[in-house]
Amino acid sequence: MISPNYYLVTLVIVLIANVPCEAQLSSTFYDRTCPKALSAIQTSIRQAVSRERRMAASLVRLHFHDCFVQGCDGSILLNDFTGERVALQNNNSVRGFEVVEAAKRAVEAICPGVVSCADVLAVAARDATVAVGGKSWIVKLGRRDSTTAGSKALAESDLPRGSDSLQALISNFANKNLNERDMVALSGSHTIGLARCVTFRARIYGNDNVSIDPGFARLRQQQCPQTGGNDNLAPLDLVTPNLFDIKYFKNLEQKKGLLTSDQVLFNGGSSDSIVQGYINNPRSFLSDFGASMIKMGDIEPLTGANGIIRKTCGSAN
Ligand code: HEM
Ligand SMILES: *[C@@H]1O[C@H](CO)[C@@H](O)[C@H](O)[C@H]1NC(C)=O
Ligand SMILES: *[C@@H]1O[C@H](CO)[C@@H](O)[C@H](O)[C@H]1NC(C)=O
Repeated sequence: MISPNYYLVTLVIVLIANVPCEAQLSSTFYDRTCPKALSAIQTSIRQAVSRERRMAASLVRLHFHDCFVQGCDGSILLNDFTGERVALQNNNSVRGFEVVEAAKRAVEAICPGVVSCADVLAVAARDATVAVGGKSWIVKLGRRDSTTAGSKALAESDLPRGSDSLQALISNFANKNLNERDMVALSGSHTIGLARCVTFRARIYGNDNVSIDPGFARLRQQQCPQTGGNDNLAPLDLVTPNLFDIKYFKNLEQKKGLLTSDQVLFNGGSSDSIVQGYINNPRSFLSDFGASMIKMGDIEPLTGANGIIRKTCGSAN
């Protein structure tokens, strides 16, 4: 006869085995379950960026906005138009959804139900950066997908705004365990991509009290009138808007940052020296950027038994 003790020991072992461990993300997460996932995503992203260079910028931003709201859980990808997708910082602004969905389809075709949308997006952001001249980094994997989107209110409080002061930016990133140096490095992704007139109007008409090169202000005013034209676009980096380089930081040195939140990084405050360091040593920017993207990708992931693997990124199974 089996002793009651045996049952007790078995029960304890079963209980321990089922405790969801504080799972860590790992770069080798899909090595056995979907070894071709990363190359499938890369092919898909390279194609999308060669069709439209701006897509690189849009994908990097999508990953950032995913991670800052409820963690890197693919929540921003859900077709829920009542929550985070329509927050002030996202509505009529975030893009690249079809590209992520196409990359996810490519992965589903080789290993259905294995790779999360949150991970597809994290890899897409890396591959997009590399496709426009950035330096690669090793993406950690094993995130799972949320079943619901974050609320509009949460997104509006957690995502920074183009009108933010340096202090606001520092504390906004600190809330996500990212320090001032991470914040400056990550802002360096404004070396690619475009912004809408509504996000930089106050600045180019001198209403943000942050100094601006007068010629640059006049140039941007041509496509961004005092009233109307809210959706007119301008490059965040006026010199090389499609290249991942340090021109963004050089622009700041010349007071040609497009957003208030760009120029405050070089306006006589604590981050001036970080910007100057990147100008002096461009390679340090490229490697810091990757390191900070890895840190950003670590924000509150769903792992283990939490979350799901969505079949399509737009809806929760
Ligand atoms: C530091 C705080 C930040 C603020 C206040 C900010 C704000 C903005 C704003 C206002 C736009 C233009 C959006 C529009 O036109 O609707 C923008 C675009 C963009 N942001 Fe940021 N951003 C910040 C940090 C970041 C970070 C951390 C990343 C990525 C790591 C990033 C990547 C981008 C990219 C690539 C674009 C261009 C997107 C496109 O062309 O589709 N930004 N950002
Ligand atoms: C989002 O943008 C759409 C299209 O311009 C608009 O109809 C809607 O009211 C906006 N939603 C919010 C919550 O601002
Ligand atoms: C700009 O400075 C003026 C004068 O100090 C002040 O009245 C105004 O509120 C400031 N505006 C902003 C957006 O900080």
